[in-house]
Amino acid sequence: MIKVDISNVWGEIALPDLLAMEKEVSAAHNTLKDGTGAGNDFLGWETLPVAEPTEEMKRIQVAADRIRSDSDVFVVIGIGGSYLGPRAAIELLQGPNHNIGKGKGNPQIFFAGNGLSTRHWNELCRLLEGKDFSIAIISKSGTTTEPAIATRALRWMLERKYGTEGARKRTYAITDPSKGALRQMATEEGWESFVIPPNVGGRFSVLTPVGLLPMAVAGIDIAKVMKGAYEAMKTYDLRSFENPAWQYAAVRNLLYRRGKAIELFESFEPGFKMFGGWWQQLFGESEGKDGKGIFPVTAEFTADLHSLGQMIQAGERNIFETMVRFDAPENKYTIPSDWKNLDGLNYLEGRTLDYVDEKAYLGTVAAHVDGGVPVITMDVGELNDEKLGEMFYFLELSCGISAYLLGVNPFNQPGVELYKRNMFQLLGKPGYETK
Ligand code: PA5
Repeated sequence: MIKVDISNVWGEIALPDLLAMEKEVSAAHNTLKDGTGAGNDFLGWETLPVAEPTEEMKRIQVAADRIRSDSDVFVVIGIGGSYLGPRAAIELLQGPNHNIGKGKGNPQIFFAGNGLSTRHWNELCRLLEGKDFSIAIISKSGTTTEPAIATRALRWMLERKYGTEGARKRTYAITDPSKGALRQMATEEGWESFVIPPNVGGRFSVLTPVGLLPMAVAGIDIAKVMKGAYEAMKTYDLRSFENPAWQYAAVRNLLYRRGKAIELFESFEPGFKMFGGWWQQLFGESEGKDGKGIFPVTAEFTADLHSLGQMIQAGERNIFETMVRFDAPENKYTIPSDWKNLDGLNYLEGRTLDYVDEKAYLGTVAAHVDGGVPVITMDVGELNDEKLGEMFYFLELSCGISAYLLGVNPFNQPGVELYKRNMFQLLGKPGYETK
């Protein structure tokens, strides 16, 4: 079980405040599980996890093995909920530099269609030069502009390189089972395709083929990820404050009611950055509604202590932190001796880097709590494929409970739709001229 340590929030809230929320949290959890709340047509994510691989997971693995054997590079096209989950998974487990030294057998994975930067596009073209590659197009609606532009460009690159039949075999689509331009293209072009269930929203889709195919191509054991999520589905169904999902959801809402309107979600792992990005979308898009919501920000320590540290320590007191901790890896680095000791570091001789990291964590928490910033610690334990699945499910559940506590529909995103519509109008998309 993920441990949520709330001992560093007591300066801001008191235990009776938390206990007084029991009925409210219980009601929010029941609303979610009984499907009686707003957005209840998007609860498919709750029951996605499975103990044993499904037929579709086996088909994903076969496709992933093919991509691994015939491609130096796998390009994953998508944005928002159709992008952040797989990237978060791969970078958390394999690090931000996971692509270095990879090729056929264990392909590099690049992401496209997650923005409109020509520089990024030019760089991708350079990276693909002389490489065998395959693409996965991920879009639930099948109509989002950024991935649609990248798809058109990459399809042509594939066709020029491999011809129509070769390109067809190297194109995979992940989309709605029946609706949208991407589904139509997949059917007409004969691409291998996988389904995003209609009742699973983008930001809750990481445990569908959206996350599973890229993870499998990266060599992550998707059966283990799903097993971890499956165990989480059972474990975190607990209806009491012993449930860490209850603790997290309730404490962040209590802090918000005390004026803490910004949550910094941090870790001391550089590979965590994109996971933080996934969390940012999950909570930001689920909660930022009706003039309410905790603003989600992710940070990487200790690096960001040297940029955001001052603001956290002494800026406006409207912040709380959630620090995610992982067990240290088995392979240690021990600080060596230097007989000259010009850097004055010999007092750390024989200490491991983990030891220094632990002290940095403790020192940071103490400083921030002293400065009036409550800190929630999430102790995840050993980081592995199963734990990743557990983390995804735990945070999705916490998010659903938290958003119902806030009194908003966790499962819509009217603000995102608005920007998409405005962009269509400005670009002159047929049908959007006067909207
Ligand atoms: O959560 C959301 O709904 C959005 O972030 C979408 O995932 C994003 O806009 C991509 O949409 P689509 O998968 O339809 O291309």
